[in-house]
Amino acid sequence: MIFILFIVFLPAARLQETQYRQDQCPSGSCNPQLGDLMVGRAPRLSASSTCGLDGPQNYCIIGYLEEEQKCFTCDSRLPYNHHGNPNSHRIENVITTFDPERKTKWWQSENGFHQVSVQLDLETVFKFSHLVLTFKSFRPAAMLVERSKDYGRSWKVFRYFAEDCLLSFPSVSNQPANSIDDIVCDSRYSGSDPSTNGEVVLKALDPIFEIRNPYAPNIQDLITLTNIRVNFTRLFTLGDILSRRRRNPQDKYYYALYNMVVRGSCFCHGHASRCTPVDGGRGDVFTQTGMVHGRCVCQHNTAGENCERCQEFHHDSPWRPAGRNTANTCRRCNCNGHSNSCHFDATRFEATGMQSGGVCEDCLHDRTGSQCERCRPFLFQDPQRTADDPHACRPCDCNPAGSEGGGLCDALSGTCVCKENVEGRHCNQCKYGFFNLRRDDPAGCQGFWGLGHSEFRCSACDCDVGGAYSTTCSPEDGQCHCLPNMVGRQCSDPAPRYFLPPLDYFLYEAELAAPLLPLDPGYALQIVPRQRKTDQSITWTGLGLVRVLEGAGLRFTVDNLPSPMDYQLVIRYESEVKKTVRVLVMICFLQTKGLKPH
Ligand SMILES: *[C@@H]1O[C@H](CO)[C@@H](O)[C@H](O)[C@H]1NC(C)=O
Repeated sequence: MIFILFIVFLPAARLQETQYRQDQCPSGSCNPQLGDLMVGRAPRLSASSTCGLDGPQNYCIIGYLEEEQKCFTCDSRLPYNHHGNPNSHRIENVITTFDPERKTKWWQSENGFHQVSVQLDLETVFKFSHLVLTFKSFRPAAMLVERSKDYGRSWKVFRYFAEDCLLSFPSVSNQPANSIDDIVCDSRYSGSDPSTNGEVVLKALDPIFEIRNPYAPNIQDLITLTNIRVNFTRLFTLGDILSRRRRNPQDKYYYALYNMVVRGSCFCHGHASRCTPVDGGRGDVFTQTGMVHGRCVCQHNTAGENCERCQEFHHDSPWRPAGRNTANTCRRCNCNGHSNSCHFDATRFEATGMQSGGVCEDCLHDRTGSQCERCRPFLFQDPQRTADDPHACRPCDCNPAGSEGGGLCDALSGTCVCKENVEGRHCNQCKYGFFNLRRDDPAGCQGFWGLGHSEFRCSACDCDVGGAYSTTCSPEDGQCHCLPNMVGRQCSDPAPRYFLPPLDYFLYEAELAAPLLPLDPGYALQIVPRQRKTDQSITWTGLGLVRVLEGAGLRFTVDNLPSPMDYQLVIRYESEVKKTVRVLVMICFLQTKGLKPH
């Protein structure tokens, strides 16, 4: 025989580099390898019943003939040892090893107990792929598998298994699942054949269903768990005739498992290809080979045990699980060097067309803005300095009375923003013709006229609010800037051949209107005369008011409008009741004197 042996010594640095490259998953989602979650977790595995824990117990196996029955002893006081303690059947025996003696090693429950459960408690959230149980005994006549995602606080059944589903689980459907969410009873794994080495298999996701989005909440619900529990609920028994003849018929009915495999991997949302021990390896210095660890070595700038969030200062894009071809990397925030913390803001993300959602927190160096990109109010960015210079923000130097906002300047140029009638680099002087710079004057300075005329020395403009364009007037003669057809120095008079109607120029008194009596023909207009009282303002014109009952009305005839144009109809009334009054207005147009209806 010829052996050829290659031994390659890699320098430590190269090894690390190889490891580093393996950790990377640049182009899309990367997933850690599947393994058996049971491996290395004996202390986290438990069974509600195990034979021989308190001392030797007898059990028998059934042959084809009654006479073939053979009996043995179970003694699980000490752990299994092939040479010293081969009759120990503790639960950790079901963990797959590659020992040569693995077929002589199994877990076994106490005789005659129907309700027995086996439970694995994981230290964090894992991704579950499938479960395989290999029995030494007959498979159970009925059982179920359930899992928890909150460390055992709440449980949800994955699937029921029974030889006779209707009998064992009458409320559960025994039809094949229609959707991935259906919880059904499966009878394929509970028959009496084979009598040993029979398997029960449970897949997290039935391959007959097409999984479009592996991160949909219901899929996540099915494939993640922190605990898994198998409840055996009914022992398989060969019928009563046989057992009644025996002295101790219970002895041959128990659950015995060679193997329990929980295939899965750490749960990293597609952001890691490798995992390490959850407690950082402190307690697990000698972690078993083949053990599937729970803490993801996160890539794509993600963090957390399950890469379930973005790393610090990487919140410019929202956290998302990696897609098949997209890494969905968390992007670093841009704070121009003025902050070390940021958070994601969905509104900003949308407003920027999904470009940037990072909002910097506590900007330093007198800065503000989502990216600390602006100087605070009353400061401006020195054009000689770069945006990341901590000393780039300089005070505005604007006169608080003459500039907008009490001293604001343009954030980039530093130019003071002067009020309307103010000028100067620092907004500290009134424009020509204006005087009296005051902080409480929104325009900064007032305009006056007549400077130099001894007669009208510094008179106020007093432009008519309704008749002039603005409040300022000519400094020479005080002429205000008039609207069309308005004249006079203050623009308060109508131009010749124009008149200035007051708002209620066309006035129609209710006392002179005709009554409308749709309901009560005996109703006549009731005029309520009013007299002026000293403590009351006059709210009426004419004689006083007309009392109009509910449901009644008045008809006004309007026949004196000089020309067609837009008119505003104003109805002035007072209510004598404390409730909302609804007034119905109907307008009829009559075409007379060449006026067209409008
Ligand atoms: C499984 O067994 C445990 C006890 O071991 C019990 O608390 C639990 O309710 C059982 N689950 C179901 C679905 O019956």
